[in-house]
Amino acid sequence: MEKPIKKIALLTGGGDCSGLNAVIRSVVRTAILKYGYEVIGFIGGYYGLYNDQYIEMSLKTVSGIYHQGGTILKNSNKDNLFAYKVKDETGKFVRKDVSDIAIANLKKHEVDALVIIGGDGTLTSARDFGRKGVNVVGIPKTIDNDVPATDITFGYRTALDHITDALDALHTTAFSHDRVMLLEVMGRNAGWLALEGGISGSADVILIPEIPYDIKKVAAKVIERYDRGSKFSIICISEGARPIDGDVTVKKIVEDSPDEIRFGGAGEQLAVLLEKFVSPITGQEVRSTNLGYIQRGGVTNAFDRVLSTRYGSFAVDMVANGDYGKMVAVKNNKMVPVDIVDVVGSGMMGETSHGGAKVVNPRGDLVTAAKCIGISFGD
Ligand code: F6P
Repeated sequence: MEKPIKKIALLTGGGDCSGLNAVIRSVVRTAILKYGYEVIGFIGGYYGLYNDQYIEMSLKTVSGIYHQGGTILKNSNKDNLFAYKVKDETGKFVRKDVSDIAIANLKKHEVDALVIIGGDGTLTSARDFGRKGVNVVGIPKTIDNDVPATDITFGYRTALDHITDALDALHTTAFSHDRVMLLEVMGRNAGWLALEGGISGSADVILIPEIPYDIKKVAAKVIERYDRGSKFSIICISEGARPIDGDVTVKKIVEDSPDEIRFGGAGEQLAVLLEKFVSPITGQEVRSTNLGYIQRGGVTNAFDRVLSTRYGSFAVDMVANGDYGKMVAVKNNKMVPVDIVDVVGSGMMGETSHGGAKVVNPRGDLVTAAKCIGISFGD
């Protein structure tokens, strides 16, 4: 007979997003109120699991955090315990598999199951701990909304609200100065944030990774608007967007991160070039704003609070059902378990691989509706 569950642990890994605290609250409340489990939370993701840094989680620990962005458990996106950076006898940094130390910590605390909330890197390690016999349940997180196994990830809708607010603000200053305003938004290789944020924030041009843009067509849209009396234009550009004859704009390489590339600067780069095309004709100046990490923080909106609650409580139900090695997903508005192996490491999550992330269909409903109302994609 299966040993009854008494204690679970949880951790948050990878980049943060709004809704993480709401998931933590939901896991803890479901574990305590529905199942009577004890709960501990490791601090700083896998770092805490390796260094045995944790806190006891009670109803009090998760009180007042529901709406807050960030994670009370802290995040790390560099601590892969299967290839951990340690110093050897000569003081040189080497990569070592220290996962057994983490497993020993779980045994020491008599943890029966581990709930892991994270992106591709974090869930790839979850898969590997599962293979070593740890009872793991994963919860996917990313503002990019590019996880194919699930219809929607928490944090995405809150990020869309930030983009909408920013575009609303840019409209008034663009109007006052007869300017072209660009807003660069996150999303890596998936254009969801730029697309839905751009539609919601009434952008005139939306540029996404899935549709490489022709700068001449972007300029033509701005000039056409100017000629018919709209002397300002708003462009929402994804950080992963690229011109038809160019490449993505890489800001930096983070070597010890699961995905080394950090995007950034696509908006600024386009602003400089676009001004050369439009200014001689319309006299307009072009300015760029990068919304950046604001998209990942702030008060969690109503939609994400509910979604996070569903993710968290379903994960604990999965623990109770012994549904290990799986990740919670939303399919047709129902919570379902999916195998972690089918999602991570196969290039299916956008955070580490560019092969199989859930990306925008250039001929899908959203792009079609946007085009119908006159939004240009520069194609
Ligand atoms: O995947 C989430 C995300 O916010 C992306 O949209 C962005 O490109 C990336 O993380 C930034 O990562 P970091 O926090 O390492 O700079």
